[in-house]
Amino acid sequence: MPITVTPTGAALGAFVTGFDARQITAEDARALNDAFLKHHVIVLRDQHLTDAEQVEFGKCFGEIEKARYISPLSGRDDIMVISNIRSDDGKPLGQLPDGEMSFHFDRIHQAKPCRGAALYCIETPSEGGDTCFSNMVMAYEALPEATKAKLAGKVAVNSFSYTATSRDMKDQGGPRATHPIVRTIPETGKKSLYLCRLMTDRIEGMPEAESNALLDELCDHIENPRFIYQHKWRVGDILVWDNRCTCHARTDFSGAERRLMKRVTIGDNAMPMA
Ligand code: SIN
Repeated sequence: MPITVTPTGAALGAFVTGFDARQITAEDARALNDAFLKHHVIVLRDQHLTDAEQVEFGKCFGEIEKARYISPLSGRDDIMVISNIRSDDGKPLGQLPDGEMSFHFDRIHQAKPCRGAALYCIETPSEGGDTCFSNMVMAYEALPEATKAKLAGKVAVNSFSYTATSRDMKDQGGPRATHPIVRTIPETGKKSLYLCRLMTDRIEGMPEAESNALLDELCDHIENPRFIYQHKWRVGDILVWDNRCTCHARTDFSGAERRLMKRVTIGDNAMPMA
């Protein structure tokens, strides 16, 4: 069956059909990477993957990074389990267990943040727990010229506390990294905003009040629905995002229902460049 790529109709994202993620040819991998670069988020539905098959699939997009924590729900160091499932004594068996998450880029607090991720849905609550993606290329292009000029050459400090899911938990002395606030995606030459509500602390070389006000304004801008695709999960979905030019958030969901997702994190071979 030929591969077809159908845009979601929102500001980013495309559904890719005609593809079994367990059987990847070099030609398939090229088509997937083209769709990834063009649409920033791609969704494959009705997939049936073991952990090992998910890791092999992830390799179409780059090298796989290790998870920080090996979950008993996988037992592998190349699978990050994202789940609210708990042990008998109430301890989460996966990471990022509960509820809403503010907009963020995965691993922006590292010197070399990841290029992308492939998230596979195994269990999903009946309502909520959607993942929302903002198109940061489109958000940059929509800025007034005066704001673009103000941001040119600026860098921002990004930090993360490993248990944080919202802004008020930000910057608890965790790891941090400084990156350009506007980065260029090497393959496309497009400029993309690189800041987010959960992890960006301050713009360097700017008085604190001015930096806070500008970050608030930019965070409101990138969270405008006109830049967003909201993905409602179905069991068997695998979704791959370009973590360099999209940031993502999660909507709230009931703790009484189970959510089980497995993420393969795709490393980058270059640091973010202005
Ligand atoms: C993530 O940020 O990788 C998790 C997103 C989600 O749980 O929907």
